[in-house]
Amino acid sequence: MENRIILSRLFSYVRPHLTKFIAAIISMAVVAMTEPSVAAIMEPMIDGTFIKRDPDAIVLVPLVLVGLFFIRGVARVVATLCITSVATRVVMQIRLDLHHHIQQLPQQFMDANPTGKLLSKVSYDVEQLSSTASHVWLVLVRDTLTVIGLLGYMFYQSWQLSLLVLITVPIIAVIIKLVSTKMRKSSHALQQGMGSLTHRLEEGIKGHKLIKLYGAEKQESDKFHKVVDDLRHNALKLTVIGASNSPIVQFVIAIALAAVVYFAANLQGDASMSAGAFTSFFFAMGMLFAPLRALTNVAEPFQKGMAAAESVFSLLDESQERNTGTKEITGFTGAVEIRNLSFRYSNQKTPALNDINLSIKPGEKVALVGASGSGKTTLTQLLPRFYDPQQGQILFDGVDIRELSLKNLRDQIAYVDQEVLLFDETVAENIAFGDPSGPDPKKVRLALKQAHAEKFVAEMDCGIESRIGEQGSMLSGGQRQRLALARAFYRQASLLILDEATSALDNESERQVQAALEDICVDRTTIIIAHRLSTIENADRIVVMDQGEIREIGTHRELMEKDGFYRALYQKMGV
Ligand SMILES: Nc1ncnc2c1ncn2[C@@H]1O[C@H](COP(=O)(O)OP(=O)(O)OP(=O)(O)O)[C@@H](O)[C@H]1O
Ligand SMILES: [Mg+2]
Repeated sequence: MENRIILSRLFSYVRPHLTKFIAAIISMAVVAMTEPSVAAIMEPMIDGTFIKRDPDAIVLVPLVLVGLFFIRGVARVVATLCITSVATRVVMQIRLDLHHHIQQLPQQFMDANPTGKLLSKVSYDVEQLSSTASHVWLVLVRDTLTVIGLLGYMFYQSWQLSLLVLITVPIIAVIIKLVSTKMRKSSHALQQGMGSLTHRLEEGIKGHKLIKLYGAEKQESDKFHKVVDDLRHNALKLTVIGASNSPIVQFVIAIALAAVVYFAANLQGDASMSAGAFTSFFFAMGMLFAPLRALTNVAEPFQKGMAAAESVFSLLDESQERNTGTKEITGFTGAVEIRNLSFRYSNQKTPALNDINLSIKPGEKVALVGASGSGKTTLTQLLPRFYDPQQGQILFDGVDIRELSLKNLRDQIAYVDQEVLLFDETVAENIAFGDPSGPDPKKVRLALKQAHAEKFVAEMDCGIESRIGEQGSMLSGGQRQRLALARAFYRQASLLILDEATSALDNESERQVQAALEDICVDRTTIIIAHRLSTIENADRIVVMDQGEIREIGTHRELMEKDGFYRALYQKMGV
């Protein structure tokens, strides 16, 4: 992305806060103008009050001095306030946009992008973008104006001495450049070190049990020691380089000052200066170096900010899932028809589904079975349009699902994922997830009852108001599944898709989940992916899949008699 485009997009976020933004610029200009004024006041201060003992000057100069610092202080606070206020609002808006955008991204994008990357874009990159943008902006406006003001004043006082000062500027700039390159390298190493630190810690914490079981504490400690030691080394280096920067620059400045003093004392005739004028000049010159230094260093945060902005905007540019359907179905009967459906994941060579044809009647209980990787989950994920097939169509009550709005389509479906996802919230909030009016305790209790989850929830500390921990970590596997079932019950959709978890449950949990499954299928179309064939012996129809194709369809009895794929599968599982 070109810098110009990035900047104009950034500015589009600033535009709604234009008044504050302009106020910031004006106050920065005021700050900048006070700098040469402070230097200029030195002349009447020294010549008027000390040397000529002018009674007006003795009263006026101190007053003006106090006034100047007051104005400068107020302008500084206003500038910082305005720019920070704009920056924080921009950050907020970009975060909101990103969050909204991520929700609309197609599943395909989520598959291809690691969670950590997305997280750091929203949290870190946006922050970086704003802090560097406001810093860079402050420096560019305020310090450029300050430098112009101070230089103008210096030339006004004495062009000869000003030229002398200007000679030292490039030397200082080179020194600063050299030091900052070194600092950038070290700070880069430090950042990476921080990355490794978090990474190591995260692995260590996640692998807590594994480390104990395998007695790997010593190895892990050693690895961690190395990371921490590198970090310490780099932090030290960075501080030392940073600390040596000022003394070197100050030394060069001291030489420049010495030269100025020497030449000023030798200036003759028109060029000669009063003590006050010289002090003023000297003061302005001293004040010149801080903003100059800020300006020479601005390239780095500028580049950082641009990189962050590019990363953020490129995420915002990712195309959203296609949602062009306008039709809505009401009173969906649960009739699903799949016609000549083929689908390939964009990163795979072979299709995951090949020419699938299946017609499901309202209220039917259809089971999908087949070896791991045969395409069962993929098929069910096409129904809520997590992916769009390359060929064929899916009809709900005779309407192509691409003609429906995504919201309407998804409203018809309750989906229990193969990997149960629960939120670190209460039982009730988890079950009523997505209910715009919040959890309805009656409905929640009913759903729990239907999912055979009533008993264990009642035994929890606060009943349905108990929190269940990250990913439901305070629950057993079977309990988590039953909560997921309860969530599906609560939704009361006409089409229920159950992707049974592969992880084995103990007999009691399995019996409970099984009983819940029996209940849930009543009165609605159910597509159930079963890994335990015992679960689906009483399904209306069993669809056997293999390598993305349907091989057999029939009842348990029919398929067992046929002696084909299903029977082989059944025997392999030893049921
Ligand atoms: N997000 C994805 N991106 C790319 N390929 C995928 C993705 N998900 C699944 N696949 C591939 O598609 C094929 C079908 O996978 P799918 O998850 O549908 O199998 P499954 O029948 O549900 O298996 P299991 O019984 O193990 O759950 C597999 O070869 C798999 O590698
Ligand atoms: Mg699966």
